[in-house]
Amino acid sequence: MAKIRVLIVGGTGHTGSSVAVVALIRPASIEKPAVRALQEQGVEIREGDLEESEEDLVKALAEIDVVISCVGAPQQQCQIPLANAAKKAGVKRFVPCGFYNGGSSSRRHVAAGSEVVYNHIKRLWLPYTFIDVGWWYQLAFPRLPSGRIDYAVLNATNEIIGGGTVPSAITDLRNIGRYVAKIIADERTLNRMVFAYDTLMTQNQIYDLLEELSKEKIDRNYVPDEALYARGAVVRQSIQENPNDRHQLHLLYLVEYQLSWGVRGDNNPEYAKYLGYLLSKELYPDFEPTSFRDYLESVINGSAKHPYAS
Ligand SMILES: NC(=O)c1ccc[n+]([C@@H]2O[C@H](COP(=O)([O-])OP(=O)(O)OC[C@H]3O[C@@H](n4cnc5c(N)ncnc54)[C@H](OP(=O)(O)O)[C@@H]3O)[C@@H](O)[C@H]2O)c1
Repeated sequence: MAKIRVLIVGGTGHTGSSVAVVALIRPASIEKPAVRALQEQGVEIREGDLEESEEDLVKALAEIDVVISCVGAPQQQCQIPLANAAKKAGVKRFVPCGFYNGGSSSRRHVAAGSEVVYNHIKRLWLPYTFIDVGWWYQLAFPRLPSGRIDYAVLNATNEIIGGGTVPSAITDLRNIGRYVAKIIADERTLNRMVFAYDTLMTQNQIYDLLEELSKEKIDRNYVPDEALYARGAVVRQSIQENPNDRHQLHLLYLVEYQLSWGVRGDNNPEYAKYLGYLLSKELYPDFEPTSFRDYLESVINGSAKHPYAS
């Protein structure tokens, strides 16, 4: 089989560093340790910034077959010039960012800007694959009262949305690259949406599992649906008054995610399928994900990493 040349945008980021082959790095970031780590893995580095001229981006995309964009949530709109450049450079598949959970529904609620990018890609007739993933394992578990896993906990509020009974898809961040490698080499996923997830669990099941493994009783801070909707209304009001308040925008993101996976139950394969997504479990039945139990054991024995440690 001919070699496929893949270019990653956002290779130093959390999602991107689990993918990488040729990485487009903005000049200001070229000295970052994450870039050296990519080079040590044999990744070719090309300099480029999504906010530079489209013509420079076309040059950076020379001889690239597949572009995978892993930019962060605030940079969604920068992907429009990237898509234009990819079209001009003859890229055969464009994977925009992406990587939301909820089989696109949370994307519609949480990051509506990305829908603009997806529609733009379709207007260009640029071949694409849209990939969504489950909530990262690394974000999905609560704090233990002893504090011994604090080093790996991102959200220490221990909030359980509603009754904690809604099944939600979760994906090990470290598996995203494994899924992406399969998806971009697969003709069945061209011009399609794919939902890649490892397992399905309710919040109560996650707490039960962590209690079983840690032998600790975990505080459960139940947040009723109505309280979450009310929180969302307060945040929206505040954003209306102060549209650039990054803290409130972050809170809105969080509330929308919680409503999506905790109340509406969007983050699940059944809903993704209804939306027209292909499911990783059906495409790749032999794929063996890391188990969430194993991951939690690594958190308890101190060998896991905080996803935002760096
Ligand atoms: N499913 C989940 O649970 C989950 C969790 C978190 C995030 N996500 C989603 O995953 C996606 C990626 O997020 P992330 O957290 O992995 O992102 P991230 O860590 O913030 O990384 C962003 C990357 O984009 C690069 N970048 C930013 N602006 C650029 C520009 N102008 N030109 C070139 N490169 C640029 C950054 O490079 P520099 O090194 O130069 O800054 C960095 O490599 C988002 O859509 C996010 O919503 C999903």
